[in-house]
Amino acid sequence: MHTETIGTVMITQEEINAKAAEIGRRITEDFAGEEVVLVGILRGAVLWMADIMKNVNLDMVIDFMAVSSYGASTKSSGIVKINKDLDTDIEGKNVIIVEDIVDSGVTLNYLKGYFESRGAKVIKICALLDKPEGRRVDIDVDYKGFTVDNRFIVGYGLDFDQKYRNLPYITWLKEE
Ligand code: IMP
Ligand code: MG
Repeated sequence: MHTETIGTVMITQEEINAKAAEIGRRITEDFAGEEVVLVGILRGAVLWMADIMKNVNLDMVIDFMAVSSYGASTKSSGIVKINKDLDTDIEGKNVIIVEDIVDSGVTLNYLKGYFESRGAKVIKICALLDKPEGRRVDIDVDYKGFTVDNRFIVGYGLDFDQKYRNLPYITWLKEE
């Protein structure tokens, strides 16, 4: 059996709220007069999705997808599987993917291709966290919350083995 503990508070709820307000304003300006489809990626993005959507003042549809890259490990396998597909027709739509963290970039790279194949007009990425040191494929984060170093992050939706999603702040995992 493994034991793990968590670190101290890295990013507070207040910092996240302020960032969501700023990004929400930018999205509102960038898509002024248009409708957007916000697609939250389950389950990690739930809290961030809620923060973003209430700060975007546009006509909007929300939807969710669940994808996985297998297992309870702290490293992505590189193989993406769709566990819950979109319920919305996104053809000709402005799609904003709302994700918890961009690490290798494999998940978002896959999702971008998937939304392109479904005929989306515009595809933007809004991620709470960016971990650039983990990058394996080139991917641009259009609306980025915070950059983090190469640690395993938990809290504010992000889990380790399904734990810690409910923490109202960002911290990291210490494995012993
Ligand atoms: P990527 O495909 O490697 O960019 O990773 C995407 C997914 O891996 C994220 O949506 C997370 O679910 C998970 N992930 C990557 N890094 C972390 C982390 O530091 N903590 C928790 N989950 C992570
Ligand atoms: Mg995720």
